Amino acid sequence: MIEFVWGKILGVQVIFTDADYPFADSKYAQVKEYFTGEYLETFFLPGDEGALFVGTGTEDLTDIHILKELMAKACKQLKKLKQYKFTMILDRIMEKNDVSVLTACTEGICLGLYDMPTYKSGQKEEAWQVSILGIPGKELERAKQGVTEGAILTEAVTFAREMVNRPGNKLRPMDFAEEIRHLMEDTKIEGEILLKEDLEKLGMGALLGVGGSSEYPPCMMVLRYRGNPAVKDVTGLVGKGITYDTGGYCLKPGESMNGMQGDMGGAAAVAGALYALARRKERVNVTAVLPLCENRISAGSLVPGDVLHTYSGTSVEVENTDAEGRLILADAVAYAVRKEKVTRVLDIATLTGAVVGMFGNTIAGVLCDDMQMWDAFREASTKAGEKYWLLPFGKEHEKMLESQIADLKNIGGKFCGTITAGLFIRHFAEGTPWIHVDIAGTAWVKTPVYEYQNAGATGAGVETIYYWLKTS
Ligand code: BES
Ligand code: ZN
Ligand code: ZN
Repeated sequence: MIEFVWGKILGVQVIFTDADYPFADSKYAQVKEYFTGEYLETFFLPGDEGALFVGTGTEDLTDIHILKELMAKACKQLKKLKQYKFTMILDRIMEKNDVSVLTACTEGICLGLYDMPTYKSGQKEEAWQVSILGIPGKELERAKQGVTEGAILTEAVTFAREMVNRPGNKLRPMDFAEEIRHLMEDTKIEGEILLKEDLEKLGMGALLGVGGSSEYPPCMMVLRYRGNPAVKDVTGLVGKGITYDTGGYCLKPGESMNGMQGDMGGAAAVAGALYALARRKERVNVTAVLPLCENRISAGSLVPGDVLHTYSGTSVEVENTDAEGRLILADAVAYAVRKEKVTRVLDIATLTGAVVGMFGNTIAGVLCDDMQMWDAFREASTKAGEKYWLLPFGKEHEKMLESQIADLKNIGGKFCGTITAGLFIRHFAEGTPWIHVDIAGTAWVKTPVYEYQNAGATGAGVETIYYWLKTS
């Protein structure tokens, strides 16, 4: 529990500064000996009026990612020091920024204080009191709104993180659907869960091909939010929801299987973003389509060479059972376009090892066939403090997906793995403006890269999708 308080000093004072702090003229004269003000350096001065100095170095204090990191670093430090009440002195940050950065600052604070729930006994939640100081009086109302937005975004991000971190045996496809349904309960989001029988009736051969043989059946969640009924535009958000990816008969080696309980990070990001949009009552129309299933081995599982008949009618030769994400997304994207009649579509997935090789854990790969859409998405990513890179593609990559015996095959050969995976999915958008986001590298970190991360799930994609919809 975190309570925000305004305009009074409470507990430890947190001071963000570079080397230029006027130490000599202050009660903190002695601090100068120990603190140089480098980025993310901290120094704690205990006492009745304890203070925590946090270095800002030469970093750009208007950068959302930097602000989030500074806040989170301070909070992680306070957590270590068991200082449950503290005051964030933000005047230096507000000198350079509009009060709207309070959204990002709040996220930094909440994520810095956040502890991932575990299965260890005796874990307890602290009651935090955070005072905010240094906001110009006439901006106080907007500052409070920023804090509310930041708190909702944190809820959305931590939902995604918790789902991604949940072990495969504790989150079967139907459990995941139930968690999402529960999250959306008090919002204006409506929808349904298509069960295995429904998928059979609809002819979702790809989703059934991957998940149909498991003891824990596949399902597809459809969620609709209509914040702006006056317009006809509806954005389709499609997220990969593989609750565990063993690779299937093309079994992954043990080491590569680590973390594969997080192979539903795309679906989790969509659910988180949609939740935040609905809680904020944003004037947007969104339909989310989430194919949820396991990729495991049983008697009826796919083997290489099998041919599937997808929802759209396109036949697919399965050359590798570990390239399952694009199969379930094929049916989901086609359903979003044909049945839900979305007017543009985003798909997001932990899709390829190739994108991890390219960009590591901090940049996600994007393919897009509408440059206005990409521009808006990139703009949104700066508001979110996330990084994305647009990849090229051409006819030569489409050719790589040609099959001798079916309309398409599910892998494109040795090279260009991220591009061919994206283009496979694009086929099913059938000309609807499309953007594809591969978060295989960014959804999960073994050790945190940034201060606002914990080991494990990051909640990648949630905020960029939120800002993208909110602003375009
Ligand atoms: N879920 C994986 C992709 C992945 C890899 C996610 C690493 C997170 C971290 C995906 O289903 C997969 O296995 N992709 C294969 C495709 C290949 C068989 C063409 C890959 O990238 O190796
Ligand atoms: Zn796979
Ligand atoms: Zn996968």
